[in-house]
Amino acid sequence: MSDSNKNVLVLNGPNLNLLGFREPELYGHRTLSEIEEDIVALGKELDVNVRTLQSNSEGQLIDWIQENRRWAQGIIINPGAFAHYSYALQDALASVRIPVIEVHMSNVHAREEFRHKSVISAVTVGQIVGLGSAGYLLALRAIKELYLDAQ
Ligand code: DQA
Repeated sequence: MSDSNKNVLVLNGPNLNLLGFREPELYGHRTLSEIEEDIVALGKELDVNVRTLQSNSEGQLIDWIQENRRWAQGIIINPGAFAHYSYALQDALASVRIPVIEVHMSNVHAREEFRHKSVISAVTVGQIVGLGSAGYLLALRAIKELYLDAQ
């Protein structure tokens, strides 16, 4: 770990642990561990500490958001299907007052109607959809440039 004091939390929600195996035509062939390694590597390049966590459980994601509220200056979250209905996750993200970027690997707007709405986006600074795993890396660059460099 570098001695950087810039910290970003990267959260992945339900079923994203199956990336690489799950519907590869939508989500690609890379596993979550491979994607997380790339995010951590970019963090090193940008001098940002990155903490990556995944859970299938809403309560666990909320606990991690709360626990990291003093550590993280930015949050990148792919909430999976929780994006479409979890007001508890929305409340948790709003409570910590940390800039949040929401990432969806697939283009949710080109899919089923229920995926067109995210209740999370109301409390984010931005959303990246449809760019596959590159979305996480772009989100990290954006948080660094917009929020961490300004500190
Ligand atoms: C997803 C899109 C969601 O609608 C879906 O439930 C997921 C993955 C994405 O990354 O494209 O689990 O968040």
